[in-house]
Amino acid sequence: MKTWKELKLDLKFFWGSLFYLTYAPKAFIYSRWRDAVEAQYFTPSSEQKFDKPGKLLRAEPISSGANFYFEQAELEITFLTVDLVRVDWKPGIPPIPYAIARHEWSEVATNLEETNEYWIISSTALKIIIGIDGSLKFYDNQGQIIREEMPPERKVEGWIHQAKLRTEERIYGLGERSTPLNLRTAKETTEKGEITDRSKTFRMWNYDAAGMYAPGSDPMYLCIPLYLGLHSLGSYLVFYENSFEAFFTFSDVAKADFVGGSLRYYFTYGTPAKLLETYTELTGRSPLPPKWALGYHQSHWGYRTEQAIREEAQAFEKHDLPLSAIHLDIDIQVGYRAFTIDPDRFPKLPSFIKELLDQGVRFIAIMNPGIKHSRHSNLFLEGQLLEAFCRLPNGELVIGPVWPGWCVFPDFTNPVVRKWWSRQYEYLLDVGVTGFWHDMNEPAAFILWGDRSLPKPTQHYMEGRGGDHREAHNVYGLLQAEAGYESLSKHRPEQRPFIVSRAGWAGLQRYAWTWTGDIECTWAAMRITVSTVVGLGLSGIPYTGPDIGGFQGNPSAELYLRWFQMSTFFTFYRTHSSNNVENRAPWTYGEPYLSIIREFMQLRYRLIPYFYTLSWEATQKGFPPVRPLFWNDSEDSQLWDIDDAFMLGDALLVCPVFEEGETEREVTLPKGHWYSFWDDQIIEGSQQVNLPAPLEKIPLLVKAGSILPMEEGDKLTLHIYPSLSGTNETQFYFDAGDGYGESRLDKFRMVRFEDGIEIFWEQQGEYAFPYQTVKIQLHGMEAKAAWVNGNSVDCQGNYLVTEQFPQMYVAGEFKIH
Ligand code: GLC
Repeated sequence: MKTWKELKLDLKFFWGSLFYLTYAPKAFIYSRWRDAVEAQYFTPSSEQKFDKPGKLLRAEPISSGANFYFEQAELEITFLTVDLVRVDWKPGIPPIPYAIARHEWSEVATNLEETNEYWIISSTALKIIIGIDGSLKFYDNQGQIIREEMPPERKVEGWIHQAKLRTEERIYGLGERSTPLNLRTAKETTEKGEITDRSKTFRMWNYDAAGMYAPGSDPMYLCIPLYLGLHSLGSYLVFYENSFEAFFTFSDVAKADFVGGSLRYYFTYGTPAKLLETYTELTGRSPLPPKWALGYHQSHWGYRTEQAIREEAQAFEKHDLPLSAIHLDIDIQVGYRAFTIDPDRFPKLPSFIKELLDQGVRFIAIMNPGIKHSRHSNLFLEGQLLEAFCRLPNGELVIGPVWPGWCVFPDFTNPVVRKWWSRQYEYLLDVGVTGFWHDMNEPAAFILWGDRSLPKPTQHYMEGRGGDHREAHNVYGLLQAEAGYESLSKHRPEQRPFIVSRAGWAGLQRYAWTWTGDIECTWAAMRITVSTVVGLGLSGIPYTGPDIGGFQGNPSAELYLRWFQMSTFFTFYRTHSSNNVENRAPWTYGEPYLSIIREFMQLRYRLIPYFYTLSWEATQKGFPPVRPLFWNDSEDSQLWDIDDAFMLGDALLVCPVFEEGETEREVTLPKGHWYSFWDDQIIEGSQQVNLPAPLEKIPLLVKAGSILPMEEGDKLTLHIYPSLSGTNETQFYFDAGDGYGESRLDKFRMVRFEDGIEIFWEQQGEYAFPYQTVKIQLHGMEAKAAWVNGNSVDCQGNYLVTEQFPQMYVAGEFKIH
């Protein structure tokens, strides 16, 4: 017998599913039309076909590089820096540099040499051997071979590019993926879901999971043709500047097969940190987010009215839970139309938004790119006059079904359209909306079969040079985000923009955060999220996180709790769920879950100075806050496949729990010493350990040598975790939390002595220190005496409260020797 609650959930699921079904007739008509259009316009190209570049005939130096002339191709190699090269195989129409943020580079001294069998082009850091057949070998400054590429093959349209992989080599990246972190271990599954021993083929085509995806599902919403190779001689990164659909496979070779476009790619080598620094120098770094965005966000597809949202916000207060933002889904709109909020259901929106803001809660509004195809839609009429919407080669409008019904799609590859789109946010900003949630922007259309997007012959402006949807599809969400970002920066210049975008491409980090979409609600799905988030970080996207608890389904209390605990250490911290499941919030499952979740949320807010410093670091270096365990230890091959634990910055190692009823878990630690965050137990690194994971905790370790800043109101506590020996340096970034005013850096140097530690504090920047008191909390140490600036101070219970100090010494006994 089902309980009343289960019956209610079944009913909700039934109605939710019916809701999807109402779109079925339109989806049927559209799928048929799309197939017909594609059959009509795709005729074989008359371009001459050749396979390989042919023989290398001659080469000549150019500024920062050289040109190589083959029988049937031309190769231009340009050093942008000593260890970053652009490799351009021609012929081919050059890509529009949507991904690229930096266009000017200083000249790099290079040397071009010819031998009997090959040519060499080198800088002080990188040597490339160009074989007579068009194969390329990349060597580091030690003369070690880092990557070996086969001659590219040009197809009638597009290219195939292959490189040999070393036996031990691991591959990471490709943007958003729901497979193991090391993409080389991912295997193809049959239609029945059986795993084969064939290497998985990853598709580069932003894709709407349409309500639910499971681990292994591919492609996902946000594809980036970039990967990192890691092997015993080092690591490197390759980024293909080609937005066409492509297929990547990693077996004994890495194969990239593009259906169109030119073969232009970038190569760089170095430690993983160096790779991300270089890649984000090329494609841009994330600006500093507003500080509140690092707090908790609540969302559900189903908040329809002002009252429902008010009650939700009040419930957070009642349960003594922090809340930074509420995300409002399509049901607040009029007929699910972009840039609308229903005035009947939100009759006093500005004052309601103000009421929320007074409680510290921001209003984030959803936005889909599809515009209702109707003469009763102003946006449609305006867009028509501007010729803003995508059309077929014969001028026919592309009309596809999305939430509002039949929709047309703005062509964001046209700067005029981006400008027009930008203006639409303005009144919502005036009303008080803080940020925007860009959804369905792969772009997605409802189908019954085939591809869930626009027909491939759909024409795009492509900054004036023209192109079709095969090229524009993957950059669509990126360009929408650009338009949104410009709008928020322009119309509200004193606040930092906040946009979350489901789709994107290389460079999205400059404009928006993302989330991992409509994941199913299972333990396996929760586990795969670690790979998805870490993989996105390695692809240059630092801000992401899952729908806590999963989008589709009702998690058990324990699954929701474990998912919450894990997400506390991701950058984007949001619960969200579908319209056909129970609304889910931290109190849904009662005690003991509520109290445990509250503790984790409070921990998150106390850790904000740490998160915020990591965000600042991302603006400076492009480092993702959430990192793989091998980030600082890439020579340790034991760490290469770990994708069930992650680092948050350099100080914290997080081990989520992925099984119902589990109360301990294993993890292989990187080198060094690690403190248990919960009880200061000290564990030696470079070994596999079993750690307790009772329901109320997940293993959380702090690296010895770290200082962890935690805030509570106007009090800052610096948690000191001494190392075994030597000196450690840490710095923290502070500013007003929003806007573009003054900032400061507080730099700490901690020196470990036999009988104590000395801490130096250096301050930089004009922003006033934002805390009244500083508490120094010592871990793994029994303090005996302390001196601040040479004056003896009281230090009992292993902590001391002080003012700011340039120098402090604490004498005592350590737990680690
Ligand atoms: C898509 C989104 C989901 C959203 C829903 C309704 O499925 O991925 O987050 O709730 O559309 O707008």
